[in-house]
This record gives sequence, C-alpha cells and structure tokens, in this order.
Amino acid sequence: MAVRRPPGDVTYQNSGRVVCVTGGSQGIGLAIAEGFAKSGATVISLDCMDSSQKNESIQQIHCDVTVSLGCETAINQIVSEHGAIDVLVNNAAIQPLESYHPVHELDESVIERMTSVNLLGYLRMARLVLPRMIQQGSGVVVNIASGQAHRTARGVGVYGPIKSANVMQTRQWAVEYARHGVRVVSVSPGAIDTPMVRATLDAQGGSEALANRHPLGRIGSPHEVAAAVLWLSSDHAAFVTGTDLEVDGGLGAFGAFADPY
Ligand SMILES: NC(=O)c1ccc[n+]([C@@H]2O[C@H](COP(=O)([O-])OP(=O)(O)OC[C@H]3O[C@@H](n4cnc5c(N)ncnc54)[C@H](O)[C@@H]3O)[C@@H](O)[C@H]2O)c1
Repeated sequence: MAVRRPPGDVTYQNSGRVVCVTGGSQGIGLAIAEGFAKSGATVISLDCMDSSQKNESIQQIHCDVTVSLGCETAINQIVSEHGAIDVLVNNAAIQPLESYHPVHELDESVIERMTSVNLLGYLRMARLVLPRMIQQGSGVVVNIASGQAHRTARGVGVYGPIKSANVMQTRQWAVEYARHGVRVVSVSPGAIDTPMVRATLDAQGGSEALANRHPLGRIGSPHEVAAAVLWLSSDHAAFVTGTDLEVDGGLGAFGAFADPY
C-alpha cells in the first residue's frame, strides 16, 4: 500500500523557534529535524554519529546522550549561540540486535546501555532544558516512545518497559511543568522504515509480515512521525499536554484475535 501523500508537505510557521533534536543524524530524528528546518526553525541535532545526509539548515553538534557533561556542554552551546530552546525532541534511542532475547539471556551491559540511552538520556536532556524553558515561560518537550510501550511482544523485555517509561516521563513532566507554560507530549510510532528497523529486518527477515501486522498494510515513513511531532509542537496543539499519540497504521487498534484483512 503506497503512502498517499508525501508527508512533510504540511508546513508550520516555526521561524524564530529553536529546536533541539537528539539522534537527528538519521531515521525518525532526521525527518523531524528536516521538518522543523523546512518550516523555518533553527534546528540543532545532537547525535553521537555524523549524518551521512548533509543538510546545511541543520546544525550538528556531536553529543552522546549517555554522557552528562557532554549533554550539558551541548545545551550551553545552543543557549549561548541561539538564546533559547523552544522545543526539545528526545528521540535518540537504541534497540540493538543482541537485545532481542528473553531478559535472562541478556548481557547486563546491553541492559545498562539501553537504559542509559533510552531512559536516562531523555531524563538528562530534559533536566538540562527544562530550567531554560521555565525561565522562558514556554516550551515543548516531545518524547519519542514506541508502540512497544503499550503492548507486548517476545524479545523486547527491556526495550518495551523502557519505552513505557518514556510515556510515563511524558505524563509526569506534563503535570509538573504545565504551570510554567511547558507542554510535554509523546509519540508512539509503529514500525517505521529507518536504519534501526532495516538492521533488524536484514538480520531476522519478515519484512512483509511486519507490514501486514499494521492494518494499513505497510510500515510507516519517518516523515509521518515527523508530521505528528510538528503538529504536537505547534500552537495548534496548545491545549495538548501529557498525551501520547500513536502513529502506527492502526497497529495499536489491532486486537490479538483480529485479522486486518
Ligand atoms: N523505527 C521504528 O520502527 C521505531 C518504532 C517505534 C519507536 N521508535 C523510536 O524512534 C526513535 C528513533 O528511532 P530510529 O528508528 O530513527 O533509530 P535509528 O537507529 O535509525 O536512529 C537513531 C539515531 O540516534 C542516534 N543515537 C543513538 N545512540 C545515541 C547516543 N547515545 N547519543 C546520541 N545519539 C544517539 C543514532 O546515532 C541515530 O542517528 C527511537 O526513540 C526509537 O525507539 C522507532
């Protein structure tokens, strides 16, 4: 099933806004960074890997979200160069191939790495950016969670619970920071065509089966997730906070006994 309309062509007015995206070098993070840049925002990608796709309108700062001091230096650089951070998108996360096992078979170093990137990385960035947003009296934090935050599967016994924690970070922080004019939202994608998913499909196969698990009959594009992030970060969503939006081709609506066709 084809994508009917190339997403990303709905534009928002983001000129004057400073947007920080973690993991913006590829995949969903890159599409989000491109979407904001296209709508006029000043966009900074914080990633531990250089992007293979050079985009002059996206500033890249080398940053590993597991290293507190590096995160602090990067955020200080953004604030001193641009004077504000209006949107933080916590997107950088990992799901390494060696994590697709029952938890008792996992090496503790894999568990610790996933926790440090996927859970603590979101927290590290939020702790650094929220004081700035409180000072500004405005801001939006978007946490990229996952469909696996909401439902079970074999082989995601660490990744899934951490993604659930990303949704709970969203709710808790939304309640805490609403009085400061800061909104906190999250997006839970279904399977999206990114290097992360490609690596798994290359190793495990099942591309068609994965597509068919989504009632819309395909996996999503990174720009379809970006479209949701752009809307949630905009003033069109000014009354939305603490919400998780599933962008998943109907995966979440698909009951265990349902047949999508
Ligand atoms: N692709 C999917 O199907 C899917 C589905 C649900 C949720 N997600 C979530 O979407 C987000 C993006 O996933 P993706 O598929 O684009 O992944 P990806 O692996 O294609 O890209 C992730 C990016 O994060 C960066 N990154 C990883 N560790 C980092 C670190 N320690 N510090 C800084 N940057 C780091 C990588 O270098 C890379 O550029 C993640 O939060 C993921 O959990 C993805």
